[in-house]
Amino acid sequence: MAQVGIFVGTVYGNSLLVAEEAENILNAQGHEVKVFEEDMLDAWQLYRQYYVLVITSTTGKGDLPDSIAPLFHTIRDQSGYQPERRYGLIALGDSSYDNFCGAGRAFDALLQEQGATRIGEMLEIDATEQPEPEVVSCPWVEQWGRLLE
Ligand SMILES: Cc1cc2nc3c(=O)[nH]c(=O)nc-3n(C[C@H](O)[C@H](O)[C@H](O)COP(=O)(O)O)c2cc1C
Repeated sequence: MAQVGIFVGTVYGNSLLVAEEAENILNAQGHEVKVFEEDMLDAWQLYRQYYVLVITSTTGKGDLPDSIAPLFHTIRDQSGYQPERRYGLIALGDSSYDNFCGAGRAFDALLQEQGATRIGEMLEIDATEQPEPEVVSCPWVEQWGRLLE
């Protein structure tokens, strides 16, 4: 079973709720899971050989929440090529804003640019259509967890 680090970017707590539900599901599948909401830099390096699941909302005008922005900037400025990295991505957003899921999409683009391998498709959750994000995230996580070695 796999080791999974879940890295959360949230302003109001929706992404954290999704992360906690994901933790339960992945644990039940036998994976070893830890959720990181802050001080993520060291943990990100530790999980270089394992799996990471990034779960982030978008705030401002397509911006990353403050909790995860430092991680994004450090990866962008310091990480460089990281082909051994395997990740999944859940983006929370609201299509009534211009930059729908801008933060999640930026994270995905950055990791792709650095050679990381995405496991599965990115899940985008639209708050206008789905007020309870875990309703769509839970089945997605069930599937995602089955793709891990
Ligand atoms: C001030 C503000 C700005 C937002 N900006 C965006 C945005 O640019 N793009 C987007 O897709 N969603 C945007 N959203 C929607 C949030 O990403 C969405 O409500 C999400 O579920 C919040 O999750 P969180 O509680 O984990 O932060 C914004 C929400 C607020 C309140």
